[in-house]
Amino acid sequence: MPDPHNAIPEKLLTSKNTRDICPDTVRRVWEECRRKYKKPKDAEKAAREALHGISGAFMTADEARHLAWDMQEWSIKKTDVGLEKMLSRHASTRERLPVSDIDALYEQVFAITGRPRSVLDLACGIHPIYLGARGIETVGVDISGGAVSAVNGFHEIYEAPVSAVCADLLCPGAVPKRRFDMALLLKLLPLLERQRGGAARDVMNAVNAAWLVCSFPTRTLGGRNVGMAANYAEWMEGHLPEGFAAEGRFETGNELFYILRKTS
Ligand SMILES: C[S@@+](CC[C@H](N)C(=O)[O-])C[C@H]1O[C@@H](n2cnc3c(N)ncnc32)[C@H](O)[C@@H]1O
Repeated sequence: MPDPHNAIPEKLLTSKNTRDICPDTVRRVWEECRRKYKKPKDAEKAAREALHGISGAFMTADEARHLAWDMQEWSIKKTDVGLEKMLSRHASTRERLPVSDIDALYEQVFAITGRPRSVLDLACGIHPIYLGARGIETVGVDISGGAVSAVNGFHEIYEAPVSAVCADLLCPGAVPKRRFDMALLLKLLPLLERQRGGAARDVMNAVNAAWLVCSFPTRTLGGRNVGMAANYAEWMEGHLPEGFAAEGRFETGNELFYILRKTS
């Protein structure tokens, strides 16, 4: 007989801020919190906070709704101004704006890797919308149902070469087995480590790609510079995945990038 105290609380499954998160993630986080807290009420509060920290903090349910409207509007204008409006709906892409800075960033990446024909974007947020707008075939994975729907909506409305699946990178089988020219792990590795020690290494080793592009935030969400670049550089250089060599490292205003090439 299943223990009713261990059933996922109705509120986590139905509330506006958590109902669109990948069900595997909600279950995983709930079970972790249930093990940590005696009272179901405390476990539920901790689960809500944890889910916010790994997903909702980057794009709220309201921002996802506005993004769906923006997309309809962009069909009229199809300009970089419209693209910028869409990308501003997720904290991670908003931090890279204006779009001309993202173009400059990829010029720097492609100068090392060449222009990829296929990209895997892990914990993609809505970043595939930028890549699709620039004609780059991209498959995204994220636990945010709002982000995944936005990427797939962008494909449906504009026939952009992008798609996304809702999956949890900490669960088996979430990293696609297919070979890609390039995999993006942007502002992801520290977030994975926070969810489970060793998860960043496991995900990097599961990727089948000729190039890995990993990035790290160098400022807090509030914009403060607290020495994150040096700490993350030390971490990355101590955790290069097997069979990859670092071919490039550079910093933009608020992000540190490593370009890794598959050597074996
Ligand atoms: C800091 S944002 C980065 C988004 C995107 N990579 C970018 O740089 O624009 C982190 C993203 O990871 C997703 N995420 C967090 N934990 C995840 C997990 N275990 N599996 C898949 N996606 C996850 C969140 O929903 C969020 O969209």
